[in-house]
Amino acid sequence: MQRMRIGPEERVFVLTGAGVSAESGLRTFRDQGGLWEGHRVEEVATPEAWTEDAARVWRFYSQRRRDARRAEPNAAHRALAELEQRLDDRFFLCTQNVDDLHERAGSRRLVHMHGELFASRCEFSGPGAGTSACASAPFPDDALYETEEVIAHCTCGGRIRPHIVWFGEMPLEMERIEREIARATTMLVVGTSGAVYPAASFVHWAGPRARRIYIGPEEPANAAAFTEIVPGRAGEVLPGLVEGA
Ligand code: OAD
Repeated sequence: MQRMRIGPEERVFVLTGAGVSAESGLRTFRDQGGLWEGHRVEEVATPEAWTEDAARVWRFYSQRRRDARRAEPNAAHRALAELEQRLDDRFFLCTQNVDDLHERAGSRRLVHMHGELFASRCEFSGPGAGTSACASAPFPDDALYETEEVIAHCTCGGRIRPHIVWFGEMPLEMERIEREIARATTMLVVGTSGAVYPAASFVHWAGPRARRIYIGPEEPANAAAFTEIVPGRAGEVLPGLVEGA
């Protein structure tokens, strides 16, 4: 496929995964040498891990904050921001990534369905917090918490936790995401293995009339659901694909 033509009536929904940040030097989850190596998922990214050893969880996310601070947006992030400039409200970006590289490239119409690395919140706030829930909101935070003693506390007494959706927790903004998918005429999926749900279902929700394009160096697990697979690295393929769209 040479270039993606987007007519005046069309709407584009983009889903990105760890692969879109790979060329910025941030490791993906499941690739060789991936992020979970040396850290079993259940040791760092579940509510149970938090209950067991909050400092270990925070050391993991503190390191990810360090890595993300050093990273810069790449050509793929920039191409998506430029596409948004041209399409305005006919464009919507949903990322599974918790880094802020899309925003730093200029994207504005986006949601982070798995949370944000540079935000924190009270452990008793947010969806699924239960009946004794705290009403405080997530807040911007780039601090590093390496030991139990330095973990900040909310006014309600709860500890401050990463604003990240852990395994077993509900993804964020699902109603808005579903609305945007329902009216999309093109779904562009970039750099995700198609192994984590519900994001892996989005291509099915898009419906048979929508063009469904995947971009990445390997076929995703849900490859059969796409109308086109464009093999290659996001930073190399995307700029040419969306140029003049
Ligand atoms: P994965 O690590 O599962 O998949 C990364 C995908 O990116 C793979 O399919 C690679 O082929 C592809 N890839 C690698 N380099 C690329 C490049 N330069 N350009 C394009 N694609 C490239 O990561 P995700 O699918 O994003 O959830 O993982 C989904 C979720 O699982 C994450 O959001 C995270 C994790 O558990 C939470 O933290 C809740």
